[in-house]
Amino acid sequence: MVVGEFKPGLEGVPATLSSISFVDGQKGLLEYRGISIEELALKSSFVETSYLLIWGVLPTKEELEAFEHEIRYHRRIKYRIRDMMKCFPERGHPMDALQASAAALGLFYSRRALANPAYIREAVVRLLAKIPTMVAAFQQMRRGNDPVRPRDDLNYSANFLYMLNEREPDPLLANIFDICLTLHAEHTINASTFSAMVTASTLTDPYGVIASAVGTLAGPLHGGANEEVIEMLERIGSVENVRPFVEKCVENKDKIMGFGHRVYKVKDPRATILQGLAEKLFENFGHDDYYDIAVKLEEVVEEKLGHKGIYANVDFYSGLVYRKMGIPIDLFTPVFAIARVSGWLAHWKEQLEANRIYRPTQIYTGTHGESYIPIEQRS
Ligand code: SDX
Repeated sequence: MVVGEFKPGLEGVPATLSSISFVDGQKGLLEYRGISIEELALKSSFVETSYLLIWGVLPTKEELEAFEHEIRYHRRIKYRIRDMMKCFPERGHPMDALQASAAALGLFYSRRALANPAYIREAVVRLLAKIPTMVAAFQQMRRGNDPVRPRDDLNYSANFLYMLNEREPDPLLANIFDICLTLHAEHTINASTFSAMVTASTLTDPYGVIASAVGTLAGPLHGGANEEVIEMLERIGSVENVRPFVEKCVENKDKIMGFGHRVYKVKDPRATILQGLAEKLFENFGHDDYYDIAVKLEEVVEEKLGHKGIYANVDFYSGLVYRKMGIPIDLFTPVFAIARVSGWLAHWKEQLEANRIYRPTQIYTGTHGESYIPIEQRS
């Protein structure tokens, strides 16, 4: 076996063959199954886009209706999962609650009949259907309330916002939220998707695959950045403070949250669409000063770091949209997870077809021939 050159973070190292999505980091392009993210954001829905990502084709009207019906049917969670979640500490992070409850789904549905297409479809439907319910249930329970039951007369996004806030959302809000889910659904081999792939390659159950991915997405350098962006805007506090803030970050080589990307060396196309959604929200539901700070921040970061290929990424404007929707800041990353379950499931299914367990190698930097030293002789 020839050992290749070591690349920190596997930067630029292809880890799989995949036809699910494509990113051109120099041109700022993102396609799901060959369709541009701009077209899907404008014309599709999150559920239809999930079908496209997972089964590789746009569904017919009948196929989409059947898929939506199955998801509606499976939105409820077992009372045992709900009772387990009641034991979670209110102050626990919702991503930890989601990881635990996603893994717990395996206790009820695991069976690991991975060769059976019906089992694959059941797992896809159950995870897409139940993850939003569990996020909303945790939010209600940590406020001391019973979970709000899903409503079959509401579509995927409207139902989530209804379970979260116990009131029917404005149709424009629900539509904007659905576009946000589509934008966050998939993004080639990012850290959490790679986590899902490695777990999937051992042929474990899909619930464990999603739990692995949730744990990976929670990190502040990955999905957790959207929370950090809002906290950063709060710390900056005014447009006047932006330039000194950026200059200090550049001087100290501090990472500015919501900027930079391993692949994009221009503005993330999702950030452009999210910025437009933020503007639409503020036009219809009232302005937000944080937006002015964000626009100024993007301008100064581009001036200071654009030459290094550091531009706004998907997390920069998403937090502003979610905050305007009244979504609590520590639920921003769980919302990212609700969307990315779609992409994780697509890669899980693709890995089953690849059927090769991940087992990379290393370049050993340790020593050989060391002796065991009895504890009394150690200093
Ligand atoms: C997501 O991979 C995906 O597709 C992820 C994602 C998805 O959809 O799944 O797109 C979602 O994770 C978006 C990224 C969200 N994270 C953040 O916004 C956190 C802040 N960004 C960074 O931590 C960073 O940009 C990363 C982690 C996203 C990417 O980092 P890299 O590619 O490992 O780059 P690096 O850390 O090696 O930095 C290269 C240079 C360094 O400067 P030099 O030492 O060369 O002088 O760029 C600088 C870094 O200091 N740099 C930044 C910076 N990001 C990189 N400087 C200031 N602010 C930043 N945000």
